[in-house]
Amino acid sequence: MTKSALQIERARYSPKLPKALQGAVKVVTGKNTESVADQADILKLFPNTYGMPLITFEEGGATAQFPAVNVGVILSGGQAPGGHNVISGIFDGLKKLNPANKLYGFLGGPGGLVDHKYLELTAAIIDEYRNTGGFDIIGSGRTKLEETAQFDLGVEICNKLGIKALIVIGGDDSNTNACVLAEYYLQKNTGIQVIGCPKTIDGDLKNEMIETSFGFDTACKVYSELIGNIMRDANSAKKYWHFIKLMGRSASHIGLECALQTQPNICLISEEVAGNEQTLGQIVNDIADIIAKRAENKENFGVALIPEGLIEFIPEMKILISELNDLLAEGHATADQFKAIADDKAKSDFVIANLTKESAKVFASLPAGIAKQLTLDRDPHGNVQVSKIETEKLLIDMVEIRLSEMKKTGQYKGKFSAQNHFFGYEGRCAAPSNFDADYCYSLGYTASVLIANGKSGYMSSVRNTTAPANEWIAGGVPITMMMNMERRHGHMKPVIQKALVKLDGAPFKAYAAKRDEWAVKTSYVYPGPIQYWGPGIVCDATTKTLQLEKA
Ligand code: FBP
Repeated sequence: MTKSALQIERARYSPKLPKALQGAVKVVTGKNTESVADQADILKLFPNTYGMPLITFEEGGATAQFPAVNVGVILSGGQAPGGHNVISGIFDGLKKLNPANKLYGFLGGPGGLVDHKYLELTAAIIDEYRNTGGFDIIGSGRTKLEETAQFDLGVEICNKLGIKALIVIGGDDSNTNACVLAEYYLQKNTGIQVIGCPKTIDGDLKNEMIETSFGFDTACKVYSELIGNIMRDANSAKKYWHFIKLMGRSASHIGLECALQTQPNICLISEEVAGNEQTLGQIVNDIADIIAKRAENKENFGVALIPEGLIEFIPEMKILISELNDLLAEGHATADQFKAIADDKAKSDFVIANLTKESAKVFASLPAGIAKQLTLDRDPHGNVQVSKIETEKLLIDMVEIRLSEMKKTGQYKGKFSAQNHFFGYEGRCAAPSNFDADYCYSLGYTASVLIANGKSGYMSSVRNTTAPANEWIAGGVPITMMMNMERRHGHMKPVIQKALVKLDGAPFKAYAAKRDEWAVKTSYVYPGPIQYWGPGIVCDATTKTLQLEKA
């Protein structure tokens, strides 16, 4: 593989670890825990892993050599910068605990465990991937680990390879499944521990004990650089409105963080749209009003950030999508009938005939392209694949219509020419920022110490992350602590509570306090590319979201 100059230099970077993990580690057992809600139900489902205490690591334990252990690691779901550093942290942690320890990677995500596809991760392999972006060291996938037959196939391969612990690196759904797996392996006395690691660029796996999911920092920095570049172009040419959709399947954390970094004219926050029960029409009117105001100042340009998940938060669209989910759910007769229809128009007629009157009206009012995108295959977790829905184009079309109406009544006198963009895949495999490089390495290292101490059903946790890495607090959080019961595909299921943008939280409040000014007065900020060497203020600062939340 030919390496870039940056890759060669970056390989030499030694990620920082919290002080507690730099030498012998003392394990401090904290208070017993409870789930965030539905305690009785979660306890019933997780009798072996419910209520376990918080674990914190401190410096100064006895230097002991732990018995040799083989460990398996799985990357689950969408790529996030820093995954390779989690794995190198696990590897280095295991080797420090006992040089005879071995690490196996399951290939292509959770499916690798079930299909028995694996690779032993040697020092030579690990060294090739230190501080690089991507998940290509072993690949990732979205297979759901939820059936006992899959768990039993996992036991088979673990026994064959002498694996005593599995580490699942994933988002809320994957960590929920990791906890189910941990509980099952305890119930069956398999002797296999399971540890989770919080991953997702979406930033929605966070709580009191998990300050941020890894990858969010780097991905937001990449998108903010690109947004800043577009802002500068817009401000130079003064002729385009740029509508930029930003990844984040559900929560708007990415959009909000990028808005705080770049100060756009518009940034929609899905959680606010849902909170205010705003219709699509109202959203369009609000955008058109800002465009008209800027036009009065002869500024016929601007930048609008659109969160990827928006469509599912608009009340009438939410109802429509949920009806479509039922209609097109895998295994439903209507889904098979829909698939059997070849013609697009006939497909659309079939859908309209099977929706409630209100949803049929909404569906019929959408541009044909968007309506079709809403009926595309769901992902294995039953989610609409929002990355395939071109909300930014839908808004441009609708805003254009609204502006021409406003022109007729004299409410708008400008020129509107729009460009659309979608930033998502550009950021997911970027070389991790210093923050993510250190944070991920620490999360991986922590996971190895949790394993050495016999823990299962825990998520690796590294806190106090706005302080220098030396002062970070490492430990483990019982996954059941983050759970509640939610309705999924018609059944109540135990799941990790997804962290949406809090409208009373400091990051949203900081944005809300400035947005009217940014809407009309061009106030763009140009963050530029991620820097790996140089002044700490440029290279090591983490996200504004984390800084505001921790302030
Ligand atoms: P995870 O939740 O698995 O980390 O994935 C996040 C994400 O990047 C979303 O932002 C996006 O909607 C989705 O993955 C895209 O999925 P895919 O990679 O399958 O296209």
